[in-house]
Amino acid sequence: MLSPTAVKIPDLLGATPAGSQRRPWLEHWLETCRDLAELKDRHPMMDAVIDEVDGRMIRVGDQWLADFASCNYLGLDLDREIIEAVPAYLDAWGMHPSWSRLLGSPALYEQIEERLTELLGSEDSLVLPTITHIHMSVIPLLAGSGTIFLDARAHKTIYDGAQAARARGAAVKRFRFEDPDHLDALLGAERDPVRLVCMDGVNSMTGNAPDLRAFAAVARRHGALLYVDDAHGFGVIGERGPNEPCDYGMRGNSVVRHAGETYEDLVLVGGFSKAYSSLLAFIACPTEVKDLLKVAAPPYLYSGPSPVASLATVLAGFDVNERRGDALRAELHRLTHRVLDTVDRLGVHTANRSGFPIVEIPIADHRRLDEVGRLLFDRGVYVTLAVYPLVPKVEVGFRVQLTAANTDAEVDCLVDSLAELRERDMLLTAAAPPGAVV
Ligand SMILES: Cc1ncc(COP(=O)(O)O)c(C=O)c1O
Repeated sequence: MLSPTAVKIPDLLGATPAGSQRRPWLEHWLETCRDLAELKDRHPMMDAVIDEVDGRMIRVGDQWLADFASCNYLGLDLDREIIEAVPAYLDAWGMHPSWSRLLGSPALYEQIEERLTELLGSEDSLVLPTITHIHMSVIPLLAGSGTIFLDARAHKTIYDGAQAARARGAAVKRFRFEDPDHLDALLGAERDPVRLVCMDGVNSMTGNAPDLRAFAAVARRHGALLYVDDAHGFGVIGERGPNEPCDYGMRGNSVVRHAGETYEDLVLVGGFSKAYSSLLAFIACPTEVKDLLKVAAPPYLYSGPSPVASLATVLAGFDVNERRGDALRAELHRLTHRVLDTVDRLGVHTANRSGFPIVEIPIADHRRLDEVGRLLFDRGVYVTLAVYPLVPKVEVGFRVQLTAANTDAEVDCLVDSLAELRERDMLLTAAAPPGAVV
């Protein structure tokens, strides 16, 4: 059966039925999103219904697949200690408090914010349901009618927060990805005294962290506040030290600590929905800012709260992180390096220079994404397809994410499939990376 989208797109893009109104704005969007919409409608690895999970294996229809599309980096979604901690919290607090945070917060919130502040080493922290809530409400507040300097490849949710700020009078200027010198030049030429720099920590596509020390130095030199979204770094990378089991560092306390930076003129945003497998997010900021957000950030005033089960899994997750987190990160590091070593041996291109567990692999011809995805699906490998326009055409491919709950057998299956794709000349080679003229 054709899905509603499959029926509508050709109608809208082709001849407009006589007498009906043309809708150019809709046609523009449908054309822009055509590749994505077509894949969504017919590809088994998009908009899929997952029928069953067994460890990090998932079943879609009749096919069992190794899941390399999960952001549960530490594997806490499957951790028995955490699962078993939940019922006691539900008994004590019920399923869902349903007050907005301004109205009242279960004491669990205070416990979470205290432990989080200690883990991050920040002055204070505030938790809200999602990072999207935070970007949409906090970026406009911090920017006011000043100027936002936005990383050109910042996550879409940061962009949306900047757009919301623009609607309220802020100006938005973009600086080149991974280019602190460009930011320096833009800030140097700026006359507006209110400056907010917004960027990612560990990038959700490249898997690399920015040179945070360089960006922080530039921002401070020009009197700007640096706002960093480390959705993918929190829980995975952390402070460095002689006892670290691997170069992810220790404690998973995020990119600021990993870089040896401080929170001076820097606010950090992160989430529990990835490494901690829980619906909750945070902003680490001075108490003065936290107090402002408590009266001025709409999600604190009006939004429904995270479910109690999520608050419980955050608290149980802190316990596990304290006792076993570094061992989980060492396992994550080992599995990730098995994949990266294969990519290297096959001479395949990836943007990943960091060794962190996000490995994006562009394909040789963006028009063959459907075929590449089907081969992976048939071999039992589930990944995130990186489709145009979500990525530029030269970067179309797929993203592999490792978690500590993946097994070596699952990685074997992935590695064999990568070798097969390489054999069939379907992947970009390291010798001819994206955009290279060969
Ligand atoms: C960098 C980054 N920021 C924000 C988000 C959105 O997070 P949330 O689901 O907490 O709104 C994501 C989600 O993938 C992300 O990768």
